[in-house]
Amino acid sequence: MHGQGESQGQGGAEGRERARGHANGRAADADLAAAEGSGSADAAPADAGAFATEAFLARLAPDTPLRLAETATAGVGMLHALVAQLRPTSEEFRLAIDFLTEVGHYADARRQEWVLFADVIGVSSLIERLNHPRPEGATPNTLAGPFYRPDVPELPLGASISRDGRGEPLLVSGRVASLDGAPLAGARVEVWQANADGLYENQEPDRQPEYNLRGRFVADGEGRFHFATVRPKGYSLPADGPVGRLMAALGIGLERPAHIHFRVTSPGHETLTTHIFDGSDSAISRDAIFGVREGLVAEFRPAASERGRRRYTLDLNLVLCPQSSQRMKETGRR
Ligand SMILES: [Fe+2]
Repeated sequence: MHGQGESQGQGGAEGRERARGHANGRAADADLAAAEGSGSADAAPADAGAFATEAFLARLAPDTPLRLAETATAGVGMLHALVAQLRPTSEEFRLAIDFLTEVGHYADARRQEWVLFADVIGVSSLIERLNHPRPEGATPNTLAGPFYRPDVPELPLGASISRDGRGEPLLVSGRVASLDGAPLAGARVEVWQANADGLYENQEPDRQPEYNLRGRFVADGEGRFHFATVRPKGYSLPADGPVGRLMAALGIGLERPAHIHFRVTSPGHETLTTHIFDGSDSAISRDAIFGVREGLVAEFRPAASERGRRRYTLDLNLVLCPQSSQRMKETGRR
């Protein structure tokens, strides 16, 4: 589990004490009351959640790893408070268990219904923002999503990533810079996107050529890159499972506005994983996974048509953050 390493340090013992700390006295009362049937918890429904939490915490082993103890303390406590507030019926509790069970049954190597659930309720996006904060002026970091492939061949600047030529031509040019504006010569730029039907190459391997609409480029001496592609279409997340049914019941859509994914790396800088969205997409204000941010919305500008086909251009500035000294120390340790 994330952070378990901290449990080995001196702070671990102190943290566990803090996690258990306040619970001990009242927990003993709660257990005693329950054992005697005197019903302290029953007599004060408003405190029922707190008593349940304290009774649970009192049972944590003294050597429980700190991060696990903190997670259990907060997670179980919030769940008890939620139950005390909503007071679900037994039938509602069964429906909740059935939903979680079905989400598990839908998850396999090709489809991760749990990740979908985390995405559409905004948890994945929140974790990304907390773990990868970016200062003003830097391009925001977002989720990579499920369609990234790390094994894409490098292409020369100016090459087309459309291997089947289907769709409206789009010329993308951009510049990679550091937070202070200095160009990042030789930055590595990976790109991947859906096609004009809103589908990625690895979603339909029998219909699209391998590596279609994917590429890897190296920026020139001024941090500039450019490539040809086709205009992507937005798409909807899978709606046929329990998460889709829950979102339908809530009246929440699963659309993602059209976008192109980028991953940019340059020595001494934080890796930037982001999307650039088509600002003219009607779903721009309701991205199902909460990925749209100021600074990630761009204009796909119409250009002169080519053999009767409309063409577009997209011009980008991608700004990376220098690695902080703390981050570099951590990187050096690993
Ligand atoms: Fe995507």
